Amino acid sequence: MMKLRLTVDYLLSRQLEEEGVHKLKDYISRESKEILTKGVPKDKLSELPKIIELNISKDVITVEIESGTFARSHAVALRLKNFLSMHLGKEFKIGIKKVTGITYTLNLDLEKIPKDPITIPFVDKISIQDNKAILTLKDLDEEFLTKNYVDRIINLFYDKVEAQFWGGKGEHWEIISKSKDIEPLTNKDPTLELLAKGWLKQGPSQGQWFYHAPVAALLRTMEKIAVQEILNPLGFTEVIAPKMVPFEIWEKTGHLSGSEPEIYYVSPPISRDASVWEEVIDLYKITKKAYVDKIRERMRNPIGGMTYAQCPPMYWAFEGKTIDDSEFPLKMYDKSGPSYRWEAGGRQGIERVNEFWRIEPLFIGYPDQLIEIKEKMMERYAYVFDKIFEIEWRTAWVTPFYMAQSGQIGIEKETERIKGTVDYESWIPSRGSREESEWLEFQNLSIVGDKYTKAFSIKSSKNKELWSGCSGIGLQRWTVSFLAQKGVDPENWPKEFKKYLGEFPKHIKFV
Ligand code: SER
Ligand code: ZN
Repeated sequence: MMKLRLTVDYLLSRQLEEEGVHKLKDYISRESKEILTKGVPKDKLSELPKIIELNISKDVITVEIESGTFARSHAVALRLKNFLSMHLGKEFKIGIKKVTGITYTLNLDLEKIPKDPITIPFVDKISIQDNKAILTLKDLDEEFLTKNYVDRIINLFYDKVEAQFWGGKGEHWEIISKSKDIEPLTNKDPTLELLAKGWLKQGPSQGQWFYHAPVAALLRTMEKIAVQEILNPLGFTEVIAPKMVPFEIWEKTGHLSGSEPEIYYVSPPISRDASVWEEVIDLYKITKKAYVDKIRERMRNPIGGMTYAQCPPMYWAFEGKTIDDSEFPLKMYDKSGPSYRWEAGGRQGIERVNEFWRIEPLFIGYPDQLIEIKEKMMERYAYVFDKIFEIEWRTAWVTPFYMAQSGQIGIEKETERIKGTVDYESWIPSRGSREESEWLEFQNLSIVGDKYTKAFSIKSSKNKELWSGCSGIGLQRWTVSFLAQKGVDPENWPKEFKKYLGEFPKHIKFV
């Protein structure tokens, strides 16, 4: 059983006289029962919170509270604040100026003993004694006590213990379907082929490419196919979402519980005033160099980052809105700009980049509407990959993107197979045989459930349950999937694909 012991100080607006002290103690011993029992189930009375110590000296009331899981000590401390305020105000015209948690000791049961030390913000010390963990917190303000921080700290602690036993267990992966085998026309690496033709240039920054006209034409062809073969027929309409995303949006989507290491952060200048920048400008004029340290001094704190996924700002656009029921399902897509992710290490051609182009369709509606949209999208996708690209591909059930991007592993309830992410993968012959090589994840399709509609308070006018879903169509990855199996010679490309390609641009001859 968990034991939570909190010593809390209530600072009074002025001293309570001796007679008052007696009276107050009396009130507490006679009337505090409700405060201590509220929320504790009848069969858990052994876990009733207790006031272990009560001290009133001068202008401070100090109380030590011990609790179990139910009616936790910090919650009791706040109930007690209201109770004390009422009596102190009514009878003695005294207010409570401040509530401080002096020490909070969390005594937690352990099923597994952590192998490595654990650290958690706000927690001064964690010690392990047999099958108990003792977390000590000090000097906690009222906000800390009110806002469930302690409960989240306890959950975080258990998550961290659990994580030590995953043993690097990766994300979930389970095949769903596979197209028929297609003999590839090449087994060469598409990026190397494109580089050899001079159609691509790497850089200027990590994970970026310059796409010369032929590759640009290919990416645009992919876009055209997605819009004309998938999005238009299914009734999706285009929106243009901002590409700089403030933290407030990611606070709601959960990206800030795991995507931080991959975000490109954005900081505006501290001032638009040229005089603030004069030194930096002069230094450049003299040295022809960017003085990065001097620039950093003139930057504000980051206000957010570059687009990581395109759907969060689309949810934001509907935040707090009640939408007429006749509108569902809402179907929209954004293709207005690149997304950015700071990928670890190795450059891997245009299929693994820090700056990439995606089209993201988003849909919001009732659960059954979403299931239908997903089925229809899967049909259209299959048509494109089988009949236009004529490639070999498969689908797999994976850890949902919204779990992965908020630092979780696993999948939703395995039996249901409704909420979650389907990955689409293509065989890349240059990596090896279809049986043994690693296939390329080139797009995904997800039903998110009510996670984001709830987080952004998006409602239906009839107050029906609203779900959402989205799909990430990677244009570079579509291109690589296609070229890896069909090669870079337009002569050999399938007829249906060439219809969309139009006139293929000539490339510039370099000497
Ligand atoms: N939001 C989804 C993802 O990031 C689809 O783009 O994978
Ligand atoms: Zn999305």
